[in-house]
Amino acid sequence: MEPIIHEIKSWLLEAGEQIKASERQQLTIFEKTNRKDLVTNMDRTVQQFLVQKIAAFDPDARILAEEDGYNELTDLTGRVFIIDPIDGTLNFVMEGENFCIMLAMYENGVGQLGFIYDVMQEELYWGGRGIGVYQNDLQLSQPVNKTLEAGLLGMNGYLFAHNKFNIRTIGEKSMGVRITGCAGLEMIAMLKGNHIGYLSNLSPWDYAAGCVLLTEFGFFYSNMNGEQLAFHGRELFVAATPKAFQQIHSFLEI
Ligand code: IPD
Ligand code: CA
Ligand code: CA
Ligand code: CA
Repeated sequence: MEPIIHEIKSWLLEAGEQIKASERQQLTIFEKTNRKDLVTNMDRTVQQFLVQKIAAFDPDARILAEEDGYNELTDLTGRVFIIDPIDGTLNFVMEGENFCIMLAMYENGVGQLGFIYDVMQEELYWGGRGIGVYQNDLQLSQPVNKTLEAGLLGMNGYLFAHNKFNIRTIGEKSMGVRITGCAGLEMIAMLKGNHIGYLSNLSPWDYAAGCVLLTEFGFFYSNMNGEQLAFHGRELFVAATPKAFQQIHSFLEI
C-alpha cells in the first residue's frame, strides 16, 4: 500500500498548490442547480488533474467524481477512486478558506484509503483500513465514545434552516450545533474528537473519504433510516460516535 499512499499525497499537495496560486478575484464561477450551488474553474481543473494522475497510475481503476464527466458511476465493483475536487465550494468562493480536497479508494465497495486535505491549513488527514488515521505525519488516537449530550454536533445548513427530520431537537440535546459548510471539515472535526457527529444530505464524494477514516476510529454511519449508504445519488447522512448515533436515530423523524 505504501507507494500508492505516497503518490496520492503528492497529487493532493500539488493540487493544493494550484488552488493557492489561483487568484480568487479571477475565478470563473458557474451556477449549477441554483444560485447557492456553484462550481468554479478550479473545481474542474483539480478534478481533471486528479483524474489524469489516477488514470496514469492505475489504468484499470474506475473513477467517480463530482463534476462533469465522472459523476454517473452507479456501483463500486472493482477498484474505484472517488474524488471531491473542492469540498466546500461556497466557502472557497466566499471565504477563500474552509474547503478541502477529498479522495478515497474503495475495492469492491470496501473503503481502503481516505484523504481529506484542508488546503489553507496545510493539514492532510489520511489513513485507511488497518493503518490508522493521521494528521500530516502525526498518528491520531481514537476519540472517546461520547454521548449526544456531551459533545458538539455538526450539521448541514439547509437541514438545520428547514428543521428537517426534527434536526433542531437533536441539536438542542447536544452541547451545541456547528455548521461549517464543508463535509470534509465536519469529518475532520469528528476524527479529532472535536465533534461527536454530523447530520447532512450528501453525495458519495462528500462522504467516501470520511467514511474510511471514521470506520477506522469506530464511528457509526448510515442513511437516515439507519441503513447502509448507497454510494449513489444524494442521501441523508448520519455519522456519530456509537453512543450518540443510537440517540440521534431515536430522535430522528423521517
Ligand atoms: C457540499 C459541502 C456542504 C454540504 C453539501 C455538500 P460541495 O459540497 O460539503 O458542506 O452541506 O451537502 O454538497 O458541493 O461544496 O463539494
Ligand atoms: Ca458542489
Ligand atoms: Ca462536497
Ligand atoms: Ca465539490
